[in-house]
Amino acid sequence: MNTWPDDFDLQESPETGERIRPFIETQMAALKAFDIKRREWVQQNLPPTYEMTYFFHDHAYRAADDIKKTALHMGLSDITAENLYWAMLPHDIGKSLLPLHIWDVIEKPENAIKKLRRSHTELGVGIVGEVLGDIGHPFIELMADIMLNHHEQMDGEGFLGKKGDELSTPVRLACIIESFDGYSIARPHFGDRDISVASVLKRMREEKGDSIYDMELFEAFADMKMEEEKN
Ligand SMILES: [Fe+2]
Ligand SMILES: [Fe+2]
Repeated sequence: MNTWPDDFDLQESPETGERIRPFIETQMAALKAFDIKRREWVQQNLPPTYEMTYFFHDHAYRAADDIKKTALHMGLSDITAENLYWAMLPHDIGKSLLPLHIWDVIEKPENAIKKLRRSHTELGVGIVGEVLGDIGHPFIELMADIMLNHHEQMDGEGFLGKKGDELSTPVRLACIIESFDGYSIARPHFGDRDISVASVLKRMREEKGDSIYDMELFEAFADMKMEEEKN
């Protein structure tokens, strides 16, 4: 899909009210419950100095807000912005199927752990197939596309090794927003790195750049974020 999702309106489709919206809400509640269990695990297993800052549920809402705001900032339609919001929200639901101990670590995680973490994209799509597989709706395709591919890179060095030309426009934007949020929340292994909006954007632009991101979309997102900082 190399266009923006503006040819269907979630509010008007009967599947939405009865199946799709409740699905997303249920999954987001499950992710929230998973975060609570993670916090308990951290309290029981890690030193009290370890501060858990990255909650998957909160990250998902920030990412959904950011994709919606970027779409509107780019002058895309309200329908597009709304479709992107709801498609982005459940992108990490697969994490709730994975063990608690792999997320919060003090040392850099070993490869086996990394591999397990990465599987959240495919696991999420599995949940979608199981629960909504009988519905053919372009929104479900969009949601599954973002869920599967939100950790890809333009150079093919992402989770699944897909290259830029295999990534849809909504996915390319989702990848940018996903990594921005990851870099913007203080984490134990970040040390004293500057995580202000301007610094994170600068680092993404200069250190990562077009080998990782679609830079046209990146600049649209960066412009929205900087504008937001002014207000
Ligand atoms: Fe993810
Ligand atoms: Fe994410």
